[in-house]
Amino acid sequence: MSATRRSVLTGGLGLLGLGALSACGGGARPVGPRSAAVASTEAARHARGLVTASLRAAPATVDLGGVVVDTWAFGDTVPGPTLRVDGGQVLRVDVRNDLPADTSVHWHGIRLRNDMDGVPMMTQDAIRPGGAFRYEFTVPDPGTYFFHPHVGVQLDRGLYGVLVVEDPHEPGRYDDEWVLVLDDWVDGTGRTPDDVLAGLTAGSGTADASGGHGMGGMMGGSTSGMGGMGSGGMGGMSGGGGDVVYPHYLVNGRVPDDPDVLRARPGDRIRLRVVNAASDTVFRLSLAGHRLTVTHSDGWPVEPVEGDMLLLAMGERYDLLVTLGDGAFPLTATPEGKDGQALALVRTAGGTPRTTAAATATSGSVLSLESLRPLAGTTIAARESDRTHDLALSGSMNPYRWTINGRSFPDTDPLEVRSSERVSLAVSNMSMMVHPFHLHGHTFSVRGSGVRKDTVLLRPMQRLVLDLDADNPGQWAAHCHNAYHAETGMMTTLGYVT
Ligand code: C2O
Ligand code: CU
Repeated sequence: MSATRRSVLTGGLGLLGLGALSACGGGARPVGPRSAAVASTEAARHARGLVTASLRAAPATVDLGGVVVDTWAFGDTVPGPTLRVDGGQVLRVDVRNDLPADTSVHWHGIRLRNDMDGVPMMTQDAIRPGGAFRYEFTVPDPGTYFFHPHVGVQLDRGLYGVLVVEDPHEPGRYDDEWVLVLDDWVDGTGRTPDDVLAGLTAGSGTADASGGHGMGGMMGGSTSGMGGMGSGGMGGMSGGGGDVVYPHYLVNGRVPDDPDVLRARPGDRIRLRVVNAASDTVFRLSLAGHRLTVTHSDGWPVEPVEGDMLLLAMGERYDLLVTLGDGAFPLTATPEGKDGQALALVRTAGGTPRTTAAATATSGSVLSLESLRPLAGTTIAARESDRTHDLALSGSMNPYRWTINGRSFPDTDPLEVRSSERVSLAVSNMSMMVHPFHLHGHTFSVRGSGVRKDTVLLRPMQRLVLDLDADNPGQWAAHCHNAYHAETGMMTTLGYVT
């Protein structure tokens, strides 16, 4: 069973076994990634101009700031290159695969044409070792996005980079812009993400040399054999401590011992584009001595709101404005429910940081989804739903397996939709873990506030209704953005039918 599933996820069976598609009932026919509907939806986007880039996925030795690791990366750096394009332009990226494994590139959060979405078995054949693939698509919406493979747990290697989509009408009321990428890091420290996954799926019954907690000592909330599950109080403010204990947490590919240093002048107003590229870690971000103003969530503008800290789940992006004081200030990202810290240094003058990193992220107001209100005009207009799908997120630690409506991908039931429908996804977290739910190819309004997003954190036992317009035909992944949860089953398809 597990071998079959894994070969499916790694692309062993060729494009979309279209078997999975024909599972749609009632004589409905699936709209495939290469259908005329996909091509005509793309044509209607009226692209303006072309931007080209190339990416080479390959093994690399990377210095994380004194910690040197062998990993897989796009080029020689972690994160990979930051790509920039204007909203409305076409992005063409030639990807070459020099990894010893199949791969792909997914453009996280972009409402793009289905055949460029980068999900093997759903939208394209995996890119074989030694192979190449040209991604080319119109990028409709300005905002902060990122890209990563959609194969196995490759996201937990160094294979990620930021995609900034500039707003041609950006008022530009800031002096500078910094990209900050947060990550949890294990690769090349004696085990790979594939080893971590093998440890998790081997079950918690097996003791290990490092202390008898099983799973190679990788379980969060180590006071209990249940790991992060149900260990009340271990999960920090979000209620989620994750399943994996990481040796390092990074900002812009650096460990705290030799952090990235961001320089500006006192009084400068800086736009921070923050991406949580971690696989199993929710972070709380703060900048010592400063208030943070959230301006965008997953690329979409919100009413500016100010606080001391910001909670970011895996796959979420937030844009912030901050007006810098005079001095040196630690910018910290504290993993929820885990020990350790990610750190960068903001410097507008000489001298040592005036607050210690550890002292910064424990008190003050925390910004999260609940703090946000959409900017007028960014919500999905109110309309009665044509169709509601209920999704129950659940799973177990032993065996390590995650489910949607009781089934693990690829055995999950596709969520059928038809073009032009208003669709509501009623997502219930039936577990004691957090799950960042991510939908490809669309954005949704979170019912209640109406905030527009593509990735949303569900706390333990929380239920959210997500409203969207079915306006982008094809077959779209919908899954938890915990890489280990998605890889062990918490994934399904939002599948258009005719
Ligand atoms: Cu960033 Cu399907 O994911
Ligand atoms: Cu999850």
